[in-house]
Amino acid sequence: MKIFLDSSKISEAKKWTPVIDGATTNPSILLKDGSDIYEFAKVMAPKPVSIEACGNFRNDARKYHKEIPNVVIKIPLLNLDASSHSNLHLIKELVDEGIPINCTALMSLSQVILATKAGARYVSLFAGRVEDEGGDSVEMIEDCMFFLDQEEPGGTELIVGSIRTVGNVLDAVRAGAHIVTIPPAILEKMLMHRYSLETVRQFEEAHNKLEG
Ligand code: E4P
Repeated sequence: MKIFLDSSKISEAKKWTPVIDGATTNPSILLKDGSDIYEFAKVMAPKPVSIEACGNFRNDARKYHKEIPNVVIKIPLLNLDASSHSNLHLIKELVDEGIPINCTALMSLSQVILATKAGARYVSLFAGRVEDEGGDSVEMIEDCMFFLDQEEPGGTELIVGSIRTVGNVLDAVRAGAHIVTIPPAILEKMLMHRYSLETVRQFEEAHNKLEG
C-alpha cells in the first residue's frame, strides 16, 4: 500500500517525506494552498505528482508533461461539454503519446472500469464524495480492487481520495486499495496519540532520575 500526500504545500511535502510515495493536487487545493506547483513538484521529485489539466485539457496536459519530469496528468472522466461529456478519447490519445494519466473524480465502479480500459495509469475514486451521497465506499473499493486485480495485474493503480477522517484511511487500507491520498491534517491525526506522548514523558522522567 502506498501513501500519497493530498496537498501542494512544500512544507508538508518535506515534513512527510519519509512516508509518502507521491502527491495529488487539484485546482481547489492549489487555490487554498497558494503554492507554486513547479517548486512543489521539484521538492517531491522523483516521486509522482498529479496535476489536474483544466480549460484546454490537451494543451495543459502536454505543457505540464513537457515541463515537469515527475508529473502525472489528472484528467476527469467527464467534462462539461454538452455534446459529449466523455473524456475517454482524450485519455486514450494522451496515453498513446506516453503521458501518464490519473483519471479523476470517479464515483463508481463502472467509471473505474472505463478509465482503466482507456489506459489510465491511476484511477482516483473519491470515497468521501461517494459517502456524501449515501454510497458505500468500502464496498466500492473492494469491487474496484477485484476488477483491477483481474484486469490489469501490475497495471492501473487505484487511488482512494476525498479522505475526511482517519477512519476513511483505515477503511481504504482494509479494503486493499493500492494507494490512499491523505490531506496533511489527517496524517497529523494518524501520527498523534496523547497516551504515546504521556508514555514518552514518563520514560524521560525516569531517565532523568537515573542520570540525576
Ligand atoms: C484526490 O486526488 C483529490 O485531490 C481529493 O482527494 C479530493 O478531495 P475532496 O473531495 O475533499 O475535494
